Amino acid sequence: ASRYFSSLLESEQRSSFGIAFDIDGVILRGRDPIGGSPQAVRRLYKEDGNLNVPFLFLTNGGGVPESKRANELSEQLGVRILPSQVLQGHSPFKSLLKRYENQLIIAAGKGEPAVVMSEYGFKKVVSIDEYASLFENIDPLSEYKKWTTNQVLDRSVHPMNTVSRCDVSSEAVKAVFVVSDPVDWGRDIQVLCDVLRCGGLPGQENGHQPPLYFSSDDLEYQAAFPSNRLGMGAFRIALESVFNRVHHNPLEHVSFGKPNPVVFKNAEAMLRQLQVSYRSNNSKESGDSGLQSFKTLYMIGDNPSVDIKGARQVCTDYSLVFVGGARVFRGKHNHAEFPADMASRMMELLAWLLIL
Ligand code: G3P
Ligand code: MG
Repeated sequence: ASRYFSSLLESEQRSSFGIAFDIDGVILRGRDPIGGSPQAVRRLYKEDGNLNVPFLFLTNGGGVPESKRANELSEQLGVRILPSQVLQGHSPFKSLLKRYENQLIIAAGKGEPAVVMSEYGFKKVVSIDEYASLFENIDPLSEYKKWTTNQVLDRSVHPMNTVSRCDVSSEAVKAVFVVSDPVDWGRDIQVLCDVLRCGGLPGQENGHQPPLYFSSDDLEYQAAFPSNRLGMGAFRIALESVFNRVHHNPLEHVSFGKPNPVVFKNAEAMLRQLQVSYRSNNSKESGDSGLQSFKTLYMIGDNPSVDIKGARQVCTDYSLVFVGGARVFRGKHNHAEFPADMASRMMELLAWLLIL
């Protein structure tokens, strides 16, 4: 692998390529860096702290605003990661702002889903924890649960969030956003079935289903446990199976995140912006300030049906190379349906990055 990349890179200028790194299973396992990933990422910077190669993180994970995730990654990897270098599963939800800016919406999932949506500009956001707490007995199993959830419902969630208790209990929910992996599947399936089958007002007669958006559809992902963990796609299957049994119309939903081609287009646009700042930082040294199109974009991922499938869909006039770190995918050889151009184990990948 090292020899392959050495010869490849000898023929390329550094600014003519960009890298999109998947996070779970490639850079981190749980909260811990995998192998030498911090050293490898550090090699993408020059000594003065400017980027040596335009790169970003393209993950289906999330649950916190991009600025907070950038700070967490900076600590984990020992370099300064900018918020613009972090594209999470829910980042494309920003594109729905015009439609729902002042409408009551539910944000579900681990972390701070309501804060994420408020940061994007949505003004009437309520987390599913807060929402469930407003309806007495909505979860008949709550008395058996030993954990507590944050049930704050006021503007302290975010200064721009105008939601109040009074709105939420009387107003129909206009859309549901599953921002990150749900924590309490049982309660969330119950509450979402209530909201989605009754036109956005739990406890009412059946009504038209409000739109439902998922930030990804990953069936499995690699976390700290040795075998793969069930992801948002598994939750979607569970919700859909139950909903379709209790409601006459099948569940309608839209999934963002990889492998949605929009996500890879956004990543390319963001890498281009990073390339512009890379070139303006280097133009004095090289005397070259023109914007080059990328010859190659590398998507470095561990899940062929998400990372590689998605990148292949947007492969246009530039050459696109994929490297599978082989974590979710554990086959000895390349994946049959969505093969990486370079199927590599993590050590080989790091060897490549370390020779840059
Ligand atoms: O919950 C995270 C998971 O769905 C995948 O994350 O970084 O492998 O795209 P990632
Ligand atoms: Mg992954």
